[in-house]
Amino acid sequence: MKTYQLSHTDLQVSRIGYGCLAIGRKWGDIDTDEARRNTTHVIETSLSGGINFFDHADIYADGRSEELIGDVLRQDPSLRERMVIQSKCGVRFEGSPDKISPSRYDFSHEHIVASAEASLRRLGIEQLDILLLHRPDPLMEPDEVARAFDDLRCMGKVRYFGVSNFSASQMALLQRGLDQPLVVNQLEISLLHHHLINEGVAVNQTGYAHVGTGGTLDYCRLHGIRVQPWTPLARGRMIEPFADASETVQAVARQIASYADAYGTSKEAVALGWLLRHPAGLQPIVGTTNLQRIADCCKADAIELSREEWYTLFNAARGKPVP
Ligand SMILES: NC(=O)c1ccc[n+]([C@@H]2O[C@H](COP(=O)([O-])OP(=O)(O)OC[C@H]3O[C@@H](n4cnc5c(N)ncnc54)[C@H](OP(=O)(O)O)[C@@H]3O)[C@@H](O)[C@H]2O)c1
Repeated sequence: MKTYQLSHTDLQVSRIGYGCLAIGRKWGDIDTDEARRNTTHVIETSLSGGINFFDHADIYADGRSEELIGDVLRQDPSLRERMVIQSKCGVRFEGSPDKISPSRYDFSHEHIVASAEASLRRLGIEQLDILLLHRPDPLMEPDEVARAFDDLRCMGKVRYFGVSNFSASQMALLQRGLDQPLVVNQLEISLLHHHLINEGVAVNQTGYAHVGTGGTLDYCRLHGIRVQPWTPLARGRMIEPFADASETVQAVARQIASYADAYGTSKEAVALGWLLRHPAGLQPIVGTTNLQRIADCCKADAIELSREEWYTLFNAARGKPVP
């Protein structure tokens, strides 16, 4: 699989990343040996398809996803050299640590450092390659975040930093306090969730009341921040649409199936190929735990959609042609 060089870093990452959210959710409760075996198969299939990038968060399955990957790494420490590992922090659940604690975001120095250290313990590794702030915290103090990032970097616990679900202005505000550049923004983008791309064609057009994401994709390109689309396959909804799916979703699914036939590839590859064709150099983070589907996702690297094919899919997803 082709790779991207992440700007401002020495990291060479696969164009498609693997997201570990479902691993703990799916296998977190079953017999540990079986869970470990399943997780090992997912890692091996991803690596053999060319994926070297693995995305985590402290909260995925309450830490169980990181623990399972950590178990596999403890069994075969040589795997670590073949993986770029990213995790996230900053989301806290209701009831943690006290019964009365509400659902919230927490970018305090104390929480960022403690969360990264806990991720390292669960993963059984010395250093995270990248740490992201998971969702924007309205109480964010850029200087306090900067102290946390500096301390983690100086202790050798995290190499690079980024964000997730941030707008352009939120990134600019945070960046003003930081000594090191943000290197990643992870955002929901897919054919069925294309607002960040659509806003670029909707500027100043009648009938688009909510074009409010403020040039986030352009900001990332201008500042060398790699955009990682999360839920890039809309959880399979455009691959195998539900019987009651809208006409728009059915139309997208039909178009994907038709290009998959024409290219002799998988439907997953076409849906991901639409993201990979974008000149921002998007790095979709896929989350299937099905080994055949992981292999089908990796096939996206081999196709390049034409402009006409890209717009045909885009127009189908928009439900109408571009203005
Ligand atoms: N930053 C954030 O706020 C945020 C939020 C959500 C997710 N994420 C990251 O993004 C990653 C991917 O998210 P995701 O799992 O929602 O993305 P996805 O790749 O769009 O969806 C994968 C899910 O869809 C199911 N699925 C059903 N049919 C499928 C098909 N034909 N092809 C592929 N998948 C199909 C999979 O089930 P099977 O396992 O049975 O195949 C799996 O549960 C996560 O693991 C996480 O790392 C980040």
